Order: sequence, then structure tokens, then C-alpha cells
Amino acid sequence: MFANLKPLPTDPILGLMAKYRQDTNPNKIDLGVGVYKTEQGDTPILSCVKKAEAFRLENETSKSYIGLAGDLGFCAKMESLLLGEHKALLENRVRTAQAPGGTGALRVAAEFIAKANPNASVWVTTPTWANHIGLFSAAGLTVKEYPYYDYENKGLLFDEMMATLKTVPKGDIVLLHACCHNPSGMDLNAEQWQQVADLAKEVGFTPLIDIAYQGFGTSLEQDAAGLRLLAETVDEMIICSSCSKNFGLYRERIGACSIISESSAVADVANSVLLSVVRSIYSMPPAHGAAIVDTILGSEELTAEWHQELAEMRNRINGLRSTIVEALHSRGVAQDFSFIEKQHGMFSFLSITPEQIERLQKEYSIYIVGSSRVNVAGVSQANLDYFADAVATVIK
Ligand code: LMR
Repeated sequence: MFANLKPLPTDPILGLMAKYRQDTNPNKIDLGVGVYKTEQGDTPILSCVKKAEAFRLENETSKSYIGLAGDLGFCAKMESLLLGEHKALLENRVRTAQAPGGTGALRVAAEFIAKANPNASVWVTTPTWANHIGLFSAAGLTVKEYPYYDYENKGLLFDEMMATLKTVPKGDIVLLHACCHNPSGMDLNAEQWQQVADLAKEVGFTPLIDIAYQGFGTSLEQDAAGLRLLAETVDEMIICSSCSKNFGLYRERIGACSIISESSAVADVANSVLLSVVRSIYSMPPAHGAAIVDTILGSEELTAEWHQELAEMRNRINGLRSTIVEALHSRGVAQDFSFIEKQHGMFSFLSITPEQIERLQKEYSIYIVGSSRVNVAGVSQANLDYFADAVATVIK
């Protein structure tokens, strides 16, 4: 039976990560996978995480199962982190299941949608994180696209986006990136969020928010402002969140799937479906990542430290955006890269050709995803000149 299988291509982002690891060039630079790096090129464990882990080690009393929804303290704290003191919380209309990473949360959401409306299509931005398409298709849902990034002007195709979203049938799902759009770094502004929210209400589509970079754009509050505004306007939505980046807990696989319903009674029914989905995929989530986040957010001191560490990561990335623009400009390149400074989060497109990307990899061991997406955090003072010289050379 297995001999009938056809080989499948490696995931473009993870495949690149593996290639980078094998490269022996001491000057190699990894601008591929979305993992934060320090000036020294490391991805260290946050100090607040280390302290929370030490606390758990001392205080954990059992390894018994934690339940389908995971750690309920974690779930409640995630709801507050995402929604603040939102009326949906006050009205008891939100239910959350801890999930194995943001991807796990999205996969749970996909199965939940397939149960709520098997004929629903999921509309994603063009472009979007490549895995979105595979995730929703794997749950048997149709994936459709709506215009988003303007490759020519390095901005948003907002009018085109709205024109397409107007045609979305009632009951379909529209996936929106809350902040730090992956892969373009181009986000909606407050006014645009309001327009999308009003349209969702008018047309009757259900928003699904992917929030994997809260705190990496402007601030924890600002990065959630769009989703909060949506939740003010529509009765139902889904939020898939991740603690991989903002808590640096990548390999612990910790995220959450939150469902907002029109009433507390509907929320209870939705929750029963959500939990049955969890049971049929992985039964119960792993405990460790949630325990760390719960401990940090349950302690004023550790929360303050986390805010500080998160701000450091965000400020470094924002500083690098300006540094990269300046470094390329000072090399007299004809292309205008100033758009990089206007975008948010880890990623921007360099907007260079596949041939130029290949040259960067083959001749300089600089690893960039094939779409020209770069992880800005992979640049440092130590490799900046090497990177800028290489880009300036290949785009000449
Ligand atoms: C990325 O986009 O690089 C990250 O979200 C990591 C991943 O799993 O693709």
C-alpha cells in the first residue's frame, strides 16, 4: 500500500530551514523561518520564561491529564490578552481551547468550521502564510483568495480587497491577520479594520483572526485593536492565537483557538463541538507551554518582565527595518526599499526575482523564502554589510 504513495514537496519554509542548517559557510545568514534572533544570532529563552519554568518545576504536583480545553487558567488569560475587557467576555460569549501552537489552533478551527458549515469556503489574503492553504484544505474546506498585498506599490490593495469581500457568500469564513501580516508585513489601519468589520456585518461572513505576532508590531494593545474592533461589530468570530513568537515558546507548541458566539447559550454548544474536535485530533494538549504562559500572566512581576523583553524584540526589529533601508540606500541601489520601514513584524518582501534569491543562496549562503520574504530579525550589525553588499550585487 505504501508503495503507491507519491512523494510530496517539502514545505518551502521548513525545507529552507533544513538547508540552512546543513550549510557550512561561516558567513551564512538565515532570513527564512519566522524565528526571532538577537544581535548575536541566537534565539534564547526569555528570562521570564526561565523563571516561570523554575517555578513550575518546584510547584507542579501531577502529570495527570489536564482536560480537553487544556489549562483553564491559561485559556482565560489568553482571552484577556486578546480581547482586553471586551463586552464579549463580560457577556460570557467566548470559549477557548488551548492548542498545540498557532498551527494547531488553526487546524482545530478548520475542523470546527467544517462541522458548523461543511460547505463554507475560507477566504485568505493573496498572498498568505503558505500553510494556511494546506491547513484548511486538509479539513475538506475550499480555500479562496482575496486581493491584499500590492506588489507594485508595496502597500495594500484595499479597494480590490473590499470589492472581493463584498461578494463573499453569507456563512463563508474570511481569514484576517491581526497584525504583522505574514508574509508581507503590511497591516490594515484602524479605519480599514472598521470598514472590514462593517462589511462582515452587512455581508454575513465570519471573520477568522490569525494572531501569531501580538506585541511584535506596535504594542500588545495596538496589535489586537483590529480584532477587538471586529468583535465589537460582529456577533460571531474565531481567533487563533500563538505564543510561539511573543513568548519565544516555539518548540513548546502553545496557542489557542477562541470562539466568540452571539450568546452564552450558543457559545456552550459551540464549545461542545470545539472540544469534540480536540478529542478526535489529539485528545488533550500538552501542558508545559500553557503552564509557563499561565505563570507569567498570573504574576505582575513576570508580566512586567515579559513586556520589557517583548518590547526589546519589537524595538530591535523596528530598528533593523530602518538600518536595512539605509544600508541598501547607501550602496546606491536603484530600487527603493523604503517600504520596509513602513511594514510591521518579522517579515517583508524584498521584491527581488527568483534568480536573485537563488544567487543569494548559492553564492552567499543567504537564505530567503522563494517569495522574497525576509525575516528582518535575522540581520545583525555583524552581518549587515555582508547582506547589503550581496543584495546590492545581485540586483544590479
Ligand atoms: C513562518 O512563517 O516562518 C513561521 O510561522 C514558521 C512556520 O511554521 O512556517
